[in-house]
Amino acid sequence: MLSVSNLSYSFINNLFNSVENNDLQNTNLQKKILVNAFFEPSTRTSLSFESAMYKMNGNVITFQQDYSSIKKGESFKDTIKTLATYGDILVIRHPDISKIKEAESYVNIPIINGGNGNGEHPTQALIDLYTIHKYLKEKKIHHPIVHLNNDYYQTTTKVSILFVGDIMNSRAIHSLFYLLIKYKYIHIHFLPFCDCDPPMDIISKMISYKFYNETMIFSKDNIDLSIYDVIYVTRLQKERTNKNNNPDIIVDKEFMKKVKQDAIIMHPLPRNEEIDPEIDDDPRCVYYKQMENGVKVRKALLSHFLSN
Ligand code: CP
Repeated sequence: MLSVSNLSYSFINNLFNSVENNDLQNTNLQKKILVNAFFEPSTRTSLSFESAMYKMNGNVITFQQDYSSIKKGESFKDTIKTLATYGDILVIRHPDISKIKEAESYVNIPIINGGNGNGEHPTQALIDLYTIHKYLKEKKIHHPIVHLNNDYYQTTTKVSILFVGDIMNSRAIHSLFYLLIKYKYIHIHFLPFCDCDPPMDIISKMISYKFYNETMIFSKDNIDLSIYDVIYVTRLQKERTNKNNNPDIIVDKEFMKKVKQDAIIMHPLPRNEEIDPEIDDDPRCVYYKQMENGVKVRKALLSHFLSN
């Protein structure tokens, strides 16, 4: 689980099936140990994996960089090899994009990418796709993305998605983008903060799709917010740039007046100034629901990797 690029339709289908059908009630990971190794801060990813493990009677050990032998000069390789000896699965977050792949070369247990620099955040993308799927199903405005109990799935009507924020550096957006383009009728546009345009690999991918021969990057002065089903917002990733300014786009009451009534506003959290807390009670804002889905989807993932 290093990237979304190799995830198959049937894998995603089965994963969402087990979340929806509550298949995990009898999963027992009593003898299994998850090692959480976060070299960068986290609240949701680390704790939701922990919660998911405990809900299935599993065990968790937490690596704490500041109290580890890294402080005595131990290498990344020796650290990872040691952690893999103590557990059955490793969740790693690292600010250096290359470290997740490097870690994989040292160990023989499953590794889950909990976020690698400005690269990817695959489990977040699965949570996000699940949230979008649930929304489409509940609102009945489109066919669901995933037809449960069916190997093959697609949306059958157009779903328009707008990514807002630091498109350049948001690993949550990068992974969700690469998941969404697997689906035929998903329509993607970008509303980046100033100097936060999509990276070249995403632009190239967009251009290579025949229905993207149109404007795909908008500014706040030339966008029609009323056409989107899903608006996915991220914060300015200040830890990855030397920018310390505030974002030039804020999702607030004025912004929401222009969004259609059955749209949803998503955010992987944490948020900073880009979403005004004044709109939290607007039923279109589903970011807390999205966060709740984290434990459910991660339970299904852990069950997939650890049940045998
Ligand atoms: N969404 C997410 O990855 O949150 P954390 O940084 O708190 O883990």
